[in-house]
Amino acid sequence: MQIMEMTHKCLVPVTDFRAGHGWENGEDPQSRARWCCQQLEESRILYFEELPFEFSEDDRKFLISQRLGDSRLHKNISYRPKQDLLRGFASQDAATADRLHEVMRRYSQNVIRFLSQLLAPYSSDWAVDYASFRPEAEQSRNLPVRKRNDLLHVDAFPSRPTHGGRILRCFTNVNPTEGRVWNTTDAFPELARDHAEQAGLNQFATRSGPGVAGVFQSFGRALGLKIKTYSAYDRFMLHFHDYMKENSAFQQDCPKIKLEFPPGSTWICFTDSVPHAVLYGQHAVEQTLIIPMSALVTPEKSPLRILERQAGRALA
Ligand code: SIN
Ligand code: FE
Repeated sequence: MQIMEMTHKCLVPVTDFRAGHGWENGEDPQSRARWCCQQLEESRILYFEELPFEFSEDDRKFLISQRLGDSRLHKNISYRPKQDLLRGFASQDAATADRLHEVMRRYSQNVIRFLSQLLAPYSSDWAVDYASFRPEAEQSRNLPVRKRNDLLHVDAFPSRPTHGGRILRCFTNVNPTEGRVWNTTDAFPELARDHAEQAGLNQFATRSGPGVAGVFQSFGRALGLKIKTYSAYDRFMLHFHDYMKENSAFQQDCPKIKLEFPPGSTWICFTDSVPHAVLYGQHAVEQTLIIPMSALVTPEKSPLRILERQAGRALA
């Protein structure tokens, strides 16, 4: 089935944006960009059948030629744009490592430039997070439950609390012949309505004081250490991620929509509100950005505000 023919409410094809050109003639770039942000905040996935940013055929071929043995130790290969660091790649061969670093740096720069045009309302306030290359066949991975990507979940990063900031991710399937297949289900508003309470939202919301971790945080700060703080929102979202993956009744019984992203396609969504499970596929690249609450065009629709309304108190 052609993805363009699918009428799922969760998938929104964008056909008037071209790589190296931007919005097609006649469109008002500002209102198109705002519309895109609104769609994302409604938990929709923006879909591009063709590459909407520059990515050379040489770079793509280089990426898919990487042997798995080189990356087996890690879930994926990551690139940290702010520090210009490549992680998760252990090649004996320095020339290959340098080339991979260069390809990931170029990919990250190009995709960020594209997103700053497509999603202009976000671009002055976002925090650029990591990019990654996913070289492994998803269907053959053997991971512990909480790390499995083939179970439906919403994202939360254990090492990067967002305090309500949104996790925006842009994926491109660089595989020349095979689609990347996701399952999705009802998005965050319904998920929260049906499952947040059972997952313990009220305990997270009412847990008073900083707790043991907070005492260590204050102590660390007193010593001048850079300590990350986790809001009740962050703690709940981390728990909710695990709760969903570990809930086999939910995994089995929830309504599922299968999405196939063909070779060469790109899709963008807030993965903290669009549940996803990757069922099949090999070779994708992805860039993550954190969008603060203050940059959202409809902040009242964010997971933070949804959970706060439900819990009846501030969570961040
Ligand atoms: C994820 O679960 O965040 C990864 C999705 C993918 O690699 O397609
Ligand atoms: Fe995920």
